[in-house]
Amino acid sequence: MTRIGIIIGSTRPGRNGEAVARWVHDIASKRGDAEYHLVDIKDFDLPHLDEMAPPSLGQYTQPHTLRWAEEIASYDGYVFVTPEYNHSTSGALKNAIDFLYAEWNNKAAGFVSYGSVGGTRAVEHLRLVMAELQVADVRAQVALSLFTDFENFSAFKPGAHQVDAVNTMLDQLTAWSGALATVRADTTMATAQSGT
Ligand SMILES: Cc1cc2nc3c(=O)[nH]c(=O)nc-3n(C[C@H](O)[C@H](O)[C@H](O)COP(=O)(O)O)c2cc1C
Repeated sequence: MTRIGIIIGSTRPGRNGEAVARWVHDIASKRGDAEYHLVDIKDFDLPHLDEMAPPSLGQYTQPHTLRWAEEIASYDGYVFVTPEYNHSTSGALKNAIDFLYAEWNNKAAGFVSYGSVGGTRAVEHLRLVMAELQVADVRAQVALSLFTDFENFSAFKPGAHQVDAVNTMLDQLTAWSGALATVRADTTMATAQSGT
């Protein structure tokens, strides 16, 4: 069955991201079309990138990198739950993404963002990053407003219509996650046949 990781993109004490990610996970888990798992980058204690070789070479040495790589490799697709910090994503999420390369390749991603204008500027930046990692990012996204989907910018009370937005994004994400598994199988086969 397709496996989707729902990645909590904030590590800040008192973060809103955890409640948002748990809400996405609750909606997703009722669908029955994929296995959905919460992935909290906080649990991986990643320092600022501390690998000698560029991640695209796959020469990981640090135990935290290997553990993070094993987790990310286990999924067919991802939901990035991202805050907007200074019109981009969080440094913690960008750093966690930067640690790896092949583990992201030929997978799919969808976005759930939050901020004063729904975190949409953070997602636009993430879409550029996804292109470099060969991740197919779906069009539908969930943009949660700090003004109308939260009380006092901190108690998460999403509008009822946002559930439909999550499901539309997940419809696209599961379709592409399944399709790209075929691409990965072809790539693995081609690599094995060429002996590289
Ligand atoms: C460093 C920092 C920068 C921020 N910059 C923006 C911003 O540019 N646009 C915006 O809409 N909200 C901004 N915010 C507000 C955050 O979107 C809001 O606090 C959100 O809850 C942060 O996510 P988190 O609680 O999961 O860490 C910023 C917050 C922080 C901490």
